[in-house]
Amino acid sequence: MLTEAHPYEKGVDFAKRMDERDPLAGVRKKFNIPTTAEGEPEIYLCGHSLGLQPKIAADYVVAELDKWRRLGVKGHFEGDLPWLPYHEFLTEPMAELVGGEPGEVVAMNSLTVNLHLMMVSFYRPTRERHKILIEDHAFPSDHYAVESQIMFHGYDPAESLLLSKPRDGEMLIRNEDICDILERDGESIALIMLPGVQYYTGQVFDMAEITRLGHEKGCIVGFDLAHAAGNIPLSLHDWNVDFAVWCTYKYLNSGPGSVAACFVHARHGNNTDLPRFSGWWGHDKSSRFEMGPRFNPIHGAEGWQLSNPPILSLAAIRASLDVFREAGCMRLLREKSQHLTGYLEWLLTEELGGKIELITPRDPDQRGCQLSLIVTGDAYSGKALFEHLEATGVTSDWREPNVIRVAPAPLYNSFEDCHRFVELFKDYDRDIAER
Ligand SMILES: Cc1ncc(COP(=O)(O)O)c(C=O)c1O
Repeated sequence: MLTEAHPYEKGVDFAKRMDERDPLAGVRKKFNIPTTAEGEPEIYLCGHSLGLQPKIAADYVVAELDKWRRLGVKGHFEGDLPWLPYHEFLTEPMAELVGGEPGEVVAMNSLTVNLHLMMVSFYRPTRERHKILIEDHAFPSDHYAVESQIMFHGYDPAESLLLSKPRDGEMLIRNEDICDILERDGESIALIMLPGVQYYTGQVFDMAEITRLGHEKGCIVGFDLAHAAGNIPLSLHDWNVDFAVWCTYKYLNSGPGSVAACFVHARHGNNTDLPRFSGWWGHDKSSRFEMGPRFNPIHGAEGWQLSNPPILSLAAIRASLDVFREAGCMRLLREKSQHLTGYLEWLLTEELGGKIELITPRDPDQRGCQLSLIVTGDAYSGKALFEHLEATGVTSDWREPNVIRVAPAPLYNSFEDCHRFVELFKDYDRDIAER
């Protein structure tokens, strides 16, 4: 435990004390922190977009380049980490992070591709049950993918795409409103496709309850965990989730555009009759190289693989998963994360409370690392503040129309980062007032 509940304090000394007492503080040294033009470490609060590079990532990638240089094609079979089963070396630690069994998880493709592959198998609309439930203002790629699947099956998104919305004047979607939709329309919903953590607001959805209720109504339940994996504890197997997809470049720190991952519950993974788009890498391993024409899927999530994977990208994921393992379990990370984000929220509210609206849930259990803030008042716009912060060494991001997203990541951010961020914000606020 870092502190009892709070009380937090405003001064930098408090932030420093928190860092000294933080059992995970040393993990920051395992990451390359970008620097400003003056050579100072940036205040990097953008792990919700692209996580930072673990120092060992370069070694792991270079090791594979080196293997390729020395062995050519024999790299598939020789050495400690041959390429043929390379993706398997990622499975256990990845499964641990999302609460899946090893046979339920595979690293492959990219997120949107995996979403489509999952919908090919799990969105099987009929006249009576053809709707997909997503959240209003879902991440655009999810919206496009879902809509295109509906149209691909000959249905009309105007009838088949169901949007769960916040109430008038609210920013967050109430769990009870999702439950109401399921009560009302559950029998016509084929697929519930929601995020674990919403990308814009940072809201955590009640995945266990949504899955339970969705199943009660006969729906398939899938989650996009782009903002959840490596951020909040997940228990996909126990929650009985049908499938999930996530990328590895955000909280999983595996590099831009790195290979994504996918969870298929064991209930489905062994059902080789499920329709799917197939490729040779999903074919039974013992007979794959007989090169026969009849597809015989591997049992489990691996049976959805299409191609032999990009090893250099998998090497970077392996590096990141090793850092997670060294840091301990998700429970420890979550504990620090709740303190870090709680402290940042408290400091922002204390110092700049009247100038901002925090749209992320105030309840720590209903959010991950991220806080989404809107600048209120007429003195300056959120965009102007965001650009000023960028220029002074803060990396956060801007989401149209008016949100700044900041996410202290427990693996590499410090309490002092949060303090410095608020100080720079205050400086700007004061400068504008004095102009
Ligand atoms: C919630 C969510 N879904 C989907 C995507 C798209 O991911 P990809 O480009 O890897 O398919 C992103 C990317 O940031 C995302 O945040």
